[in-house]
Amino acid sequence: MLFTDIIRKKRDGGELSGAEIQFFADGLADGSIPAEQVSALAMAIFLNSMSFAESAALTVAMANSGEVLDWSDLDLDGPVVDKHSTGGVGDKVSFLLAPIAAACGCYVPMISGRGLGHTGGTTDKAESIPGYNVAPSFDEFRRVVAKTGCAVIGQTADLAPADRRFYAIRDVTSTVESMPLITASILAKKIAAGLDALVMDVKFGSGAFMTTEDKALDMANTIIRTAATAGLTTHAVMTDMNEVLGTTAGNALELAESVAYLRNEVREKRLDEVVIAVTAEMLLATGLETEPTAAAAKVQQAIDSGGAAEKFSQMVAELGGPSDFLDNRASYLVTAPVVRPVPAPRDGFLESMETMRLGNVIIELGGGRRVLGESLDLSVGFSDVQAIGSKLDRGQPLAMIHAASEAAAQQAVETYLDACQIADAAPPQRAVIQRTLRPE
Ligand code: URA
Repeated sequence: MLFTDIIRKKRDGGELSGAEIQFFADGLADGSIPAEQVSALAMAIFLNSMSFAESAALTVAMANSGEVLDWSDLDLDGPVVDKHSTGGVGDKVSFLLAPIAAACGCYVPMISGRGLGHTGGTTDKAESIPGYNVAPSFDEFRRVVAKTGCAVIGQTADLAPADRRFYAIRDVTSTVESMPLITASILAKKIAAGLDALVMDVKFGSGAFMTTEDKALDMANTIIRTAATAGLTTHAVMTDMNEVLGTTAGNALELAESVAYLRNEVREKRLDEVVIAVTAEMLLATGLETEPTAAAAKVQQAIDSGGAAEKFSQMVAELGGPSDFLDNRASYLVTAPVVRPVPAPRDGFLESMETMRLGNVIIELGGGRRVLGESLDLSVGFSDVQAIGSKLDRGQPLAMIHAASEAAAQQAVETYLDACQIADAAPPQRAVIQRTLRPE
């Protein structure tokens, strides 16, 4: 089989056969198809899309491209469940939800991704914890999950290696926002993780890959349907991503906000709603709870009691991070040398933000990748982010920029201001949780 024929077929709008997709996944995993050919096919798929059959075949081929985990020999006393987000800006839900779900009796083997396009990645964020091992061996990963109930790690070389390589190439070739590619990428990792159930946080809006609710709904249904063909029970919660989630964006800054949340110091309202809704859905998807209100109450109790914070601490320590990270985060997290406000240009209400542009500001600050394999400045990003609807006086900060230099901070301030609209009247309120989808 010639890979150039496969690229040509997709370029011309054809449908790839199962064998052609398998050939592609094999070549991704063993490196025999070079990055320039992978990029060309990615762009052809981006432009001409894939049928449901093609996307399901790609999902299964990438899931089986490496190790597939099996938890049955560990005799765990709870379900193995995970969540995955389609990606956003300031989305630190994973660090909160994994220990909360563990405190509710779940086992959460979370294999997360690095930054993708304008969105931040959980694996990069986790690397801001000194000593934290994002790539433990499978045995070590299983040990930590069994002992603490959760482990948030990065994609290892053995698990869905085809997706690992494809993901890194898509990140730097503007080929991310494709429904079949996002579906296959997410589900390949999750199927390989051997889960009993999965909950998807499907985001829509100016900071999501699917900007409209209709596209996000389509995506949620496609993911649920594709997962079902692979035997994975999946629920989806559709959440608003028209603004930064929480008050920070950027790797170490998001870790600091996550710790503040788990310690019940600051729980930003929208972030809190997403965390509670998605974690409660995990309890429902696994059958640990049968009623949404009871599930949400159990989640709330796990946070309020400090049980989730305790699980987070254990996970960090078991994976090689400091045992007092929760209590002494400020002494461990890197900080940027320059911190500058983004002053509101006039009195008014924050009406909207172009959230994808804000995600790209973080890349320009050095917090995300422009080219394959680039190392990141984990200290940069935004803090004190004002939510849409906030009433502002002229000069009041819309956010604080954390940067490596004055020049980078100045550029970021200008773009941040340009990406935000201020109006005389407060914008209408928007629900954060748009809807929940469960299989019939
Ligand atoms: N998350 C993933 O793992 N893959 C994507 O393509 C998008 C979000």
